[in-house]
Amino acid sequence: MDVFEAVQKRKSQRSYTSKPVPRATLEKLLEAARLSPSAKNIQPWHFVVVTDPEKRKALSKGLYAKFLKDVPAVIVLCGDEPASPEWYVVDAALAGENMVMAATAEGLGTCWVGSFDENNVKWLLGIPERMRVVALLAVGYAKEKVSITTRVIQFLRRRKALDEISSWEVYGNQGSL
Ligand SMILES: Cc1cc2nc3c(=O)[nH]c(=O)nc-3n(C[C@H](O)[C@H](O)[C@H](O)COP(=O)(O)O)c2cc1C
Repeated sequence: MDVFEAVQKRKSQRSYTSKPVPRATLEKLLEAARLSPSAKNIQPWHFVVVTDPEKRKALSKGLYAKFLKDVPAVIVLCGDEPASPEWYVVDAALAGENMVMAATAEGLGTCWVGSFDENNVKWLLGIPERMRVVALLAVGYAKEKVSITTRVIQFLRRRKALDEISSWEVYGNQGSL
């Protein structure tokens, strides 16, 4: 699968089979994160892979995170704020997107989750004070048959038109080069 195919194929999956993700595959995702760009190459990140059912249940307390209790793996993206105060969020997010793309190419589904209580997540996983929780990333094999709610959500994932979100040479100019 080439990168553009993966970009087209990816969608937020909220319904997963119980099939575990092999450790080697999870390590491949971590490797994709490790190779990501970062401001001044500081690499202000750390990734906690959570597969333990009790911990996943605790991570699923957020309003829009209920499905995490049924996801085989959740990767918690942490950013080192003191190491790179201006860029840790961008850097961790880029690493996260690299993992999303690698996961898609591996036939896995993912969902980026921002619905969490940071202090609870830090306490649960023993994340040091200086680290910030940037996102939770659900990773697993997507269920083929999805609920009506999921189908509606997926239908609603329409995108703005290209001319609404891009310009040529100056902001707002839709003319060609
Ligand atoms: C920063 C961020 C936070 C998000 N938080 C959640 C979340 O808490 N729960 C959830 O189910 N989806 C979450 N999403 C997924 C978005 O809802 C999803 O990307 C969007 O609806 C577009 O759908 P698609 O990813 O299938 O293209 C989040 C996405 C981003 C980028």
